[in-house]
Amino acid sequence: MSALKSFPPALQTLATPALVYDEARLQANAARIQSLGKRYGFTPLLAMKASYAGLGVLSEVSGLMPEVGSIGELRLAQKLFLDVPAHGFFVAIVEEEWEEIAQGVGHLSFNSLSQAAQFGSRAAEAGIAAAIRVNPLVQVSSHSDYDAGAKGCRFGVPLAELPQTLPDCIVGLHAHVLCENGAADLAPVVEALLKEGGHWLSQVQYLNLGGGHLMTAEDYEDECLGQVIADLKQAYPHLELFLEPGAAWFWESGQLVVTVRDIVRPSGIATAIIDCSFRSHLNDFLIGSLLADLPLTITGASYVSPADYAQLPDEARARTYRIGGLSCATCDSKEYYQFAQPLQVGDRLVMENMGHYVDVTYSWFNGLPPPSVYRLTETTAILEREHTYQEFLQTTLPMQGR
Ligand SMILES: Cc1ncc(COP(=O)(O)O)c(C=O)c1O
Repeated sequence: MSALKSFPPALQTLATPALVYDEARLQANAARIQSLGKRYGFTPLLAMKASYAGLGVLSEVSGLMPEVGSIGELRLAQKLFLDVPAHGFFVAIVEEEWEEIAQGVGHLSFNSLSQAAQFGSRAAEAGIAAAIRVNPLVQVSSHSDYDAGAKGCRFGVPLAELPQTLPDCIVGLHAHVLCENGAADLAPVVEALLKEGGHWLSQVQYLNLGGGHLMTAEDYEDECLGQVIADLKQAYPHLELFLEPGAAWFWESGQLVVTVRDIVRPSGIATAIIDCSFRSHLNDFLIGSLLADLPLTITGASYVSPADYAQLPDEARARTYRIGGLSCATCDSKEYYQFAQPLQVGDRLVMENMGHYVDVTYSWFNGLPPPSVYRLTETTAILEREHTYQEFLQTTLPMQGR
């Protein structure tokens, strides 16, 4: 949010709130992930859950393989990626879902031994390469709300709890414990799998190292990834390797454009009320542990901690704001952001890096319409999705009242 005079014209005129996807960045992210896969010898999967809005562009890229986590995502994958069989990880499958899943996936990870016992032999009969998800109990995520390597996490079987001989139907292992991590954080995970999981790695044909690999971030350590994979392949040359990042495909691809509706100053705290809501539309920025460590970046503004805010001289305080959301939740704000100039009602603010896990977590809380989605091309911004009052009725009213 600089207050935006320097923004591309397309961002200055569209109706807000608007989530704008940069087509060129999505294409560049895809090319980079695919080239890393070729260089180091792994197949990248696209974990669809990270963004549905960005899939419009990515489904046009050839050779992508989707990873799905529900029947809804499976159907979406079939629509967007046509005949490509998906990789699936479903937390728990029920009988009524089985036929549809079996027809749509080529690879499937079971979350538990009980699910493997219930569906494993049918998976094998259907020609599905089934895996069991394991928890190597390595904690490298800095977001404790998203730490799947924690002891007792409901995902995966701790290695020590696996049977010595895996069920016949299991031909793969799946380990997902990263979240927005670099390659150096993958090293201890692979080390633990080599040290404590070798017995099982020699029984399977493939290893899926899950998501959380932030391979499109500027500081991602390519060579470290290459080394980790080389070590793995040296120890188990027979293993086929999959990585299934989500956020990385959409990294730095989305900008959320909002407008300042009002500026209030309760007890002297300048607060810019925007036409969007953290609570309804950007909830990750308010969740427990994320509140402290998930940065919100606003173009042209710098973050000021509450402690520093208290010490600001008058001149700087006059251009420093709490950003207030539009919902009635008291917690719906982020503090503090300092701008080059004092803000005015009507100014546009741009929040950066909103391409992943934003459009997929919107809610209609308080009846506030989620941001529209645009695709930004070299020349224009194309409206791809609009959230209408009709949709609000669909999501709220009983069927007979719509
Ligand atoms: C099983 C699995 N694979 C892949 C991903 C994608 O992770 P990320 O978006 O952090 O790369 C997730 C995220 O929750 C996941 O649970």
